[in-house]
Amino acid sequence: MMQKMLWVPMLGALGVLSLYSCASDHGRTYALQEQITQCEHCHGIDTKVPSIAPSLDGMPDGYMVEQLENFRQSRRGIDPADAFSRAMSQQARAFSDEQITLIAEYYSGRTRQLSKESVSGNVENGEHLYRERCEGCHSSMLGRYFTNSPRITHLRGTYLLTQLNQFAKSQRLVVEDSKHKVKMAAVAKKLSETDQADIVAFIKKHYSD
Ligand code: HEC
Ligand code: HEC
Repeated sequence: MMQKMLWVPMLGALGVLSLYSCASDHGRTYALQEQITQCEHCHGIDTKVPSIAPSLDGMPDGYMVEQLENFRQSRRGIDPADAFSRAMSQQARAFSDEQITLIAEYYSGRTRQLSKESVSGNVENGEHLYRERCEGCHSSMLGRYFTNSPRITHLRGTYLLTQLNQFAKSQRLVVEDSKHKVKMAAVAKKLSETDQADIVAFIKKHYSD
């Protein structure tokens, strides 16, 4: 908690930085590097910022653009108790569509990174639930292709758990007209908090990509 509070002034500074980089007329590449540096403050795999932000390396550009739009439209990043997620929404609003396209292109060209960070939970119960309710969409190439589901197994445990929690509490909303996304939210709502942690503990123990 103490640590979180110390970072609040830094969040403010980042906000100012992003406005500055919008207004100035640096060369494109330089501006992009500057923006990526901001993202990496929270999203870098070795970041010292105590947020749940996941690594963005290797994220498909279509998925990133869509999620940034969700932050801009207040479908994500709305938990009043989470200063970092709200700072994330500010970041998403600070950029033009063109800048977002360039940032998304940059990250999609990078190699995905595996986070080993997990949460504690009952791995056996987690495996049972994951195989029954999640892997059809998330774990095979075909499943992901037909349902347009993102890869999740490389992401950090605390991030995965927070997302399940947010879907369950309707703090993370999705574009209405996709039946798979609506299903994702519905599946999360049927899990207890213990089940959510068990699933994440299983994912982080079992998958290494
Ligand atoms: C102040 C810290 C911070 C900064 C700076 C930041 N983010 Fe985030 N970001 C977060 C947090 C925290 C989350 C998870 C929020 C949540 O879902 O509650 C997140 C989530 C995301 C997600 C969704 C990930 C997923 O798997 O769905 C994307 C995409 C993203 N950020 C992109 C960016 C980009 C691009 C930048 C730089 C322009 C950036 N972020 C800068 C903290 C930050
Ligand atoms: C019907 C297919 C489907 C099923 C079943 C499903 N998901 Fe998803 N999941 C999705 C889709 C599609 C998204 C992207 C939602 C969006 O656009 O925000 C998603 C998003 C997620 C995310 C957020 C990823 C990120 O980068 O932020 C997590 C975590 C997740 N699912 C975990 C699970 C778990 C755990 C289960 C089983 C309990 C599950 N999903 C079941 C389709 C599915």
